[in-house]
Amino acid sequence: LNGSVRGVQKTLTVATEPTFAPFEFQVAGKLQGFDIELVNAIAAAAGFQVKYQNMPFSGMIPALQAKSIDAAVSAMTITEERSKTVSFSRPYFKSGLGIAVRGSNQDITNFESLKNKKIAVQIGTTGADKAKTVPGAAIRTFDDTPIALQELLNGNVDAVVHDQPGLLYGIKTGNLQGLKIVGQLLTEEYYGIPTPKNSPNLKLINQGLTKVLSNGTYAQIYKKWFNS
Ligand code: ARG
Repeated sequence: LNGSVRGVQKTLTVATEPTFAPFEFQVAGKLQGFDIELVNAIAAAAGFQVKYQNMPFSGMIPALQAKSIDAAVSAMTITEERSKTVSFSRPYFKSGLGIAVRGSNQDITNFESLKNKKIAVQIGTTGADKAKTVPGAAIRTFDDTPIALQELLNGNVDAVVHDQPGLLYGIKTGNLQGLKIVGQLLTEEYYGIPTPKNSPNLKLINQGLTKVLSNGTYAQIYKKWFNS
């Protein structure tokens, strides 16, 4: 038996913050991206329906704690801190933090050289946490990634610390022309799908995720967004 009871599938409300290509973003109001296709595939495999709800990234953990949503998909890193208040699915994507600077920048080459610089981050992210550990840095927090990167392009900050796959995709697709990535990955992180603690849906989500990982669907979606 999967998610359906007597043929009626349940609907899970899944929050997303769709300004983070290629994971979740919108084109003409339509949700797209790796995470969206993955959750759609998980739902199909496990037998549930999905209703997406846009919300700020920093609002997701509180909304899960309040149980006003059933899950979230937003390139969210599985952390010890978050795991105190929500339950994550098994990991579905390996990621890590990177440093973006303007192409003309010569003095920021690694984490150490961020010292005393102005750094833009997205509020509530692992990038924000990491940036706070830089000695003497002035941290500027923004609601979403595109605004943080725009501040960098405009010369109002010296660097952005954020998930490297998102930074790379933006630079590659040309939306972030004039920026470059410097240094090594700062962290190793894994994305998961958070649900409320003791959610009855977590098992269903994990079953669907396991299925799409093993039946080739995950590989197809991955190839579409990262190998083309
Ligand atoms: N992986 C990072 C974190 O969990 C950033 C995720 C940002 N996601 C987004 N949709 N803006 O903190």
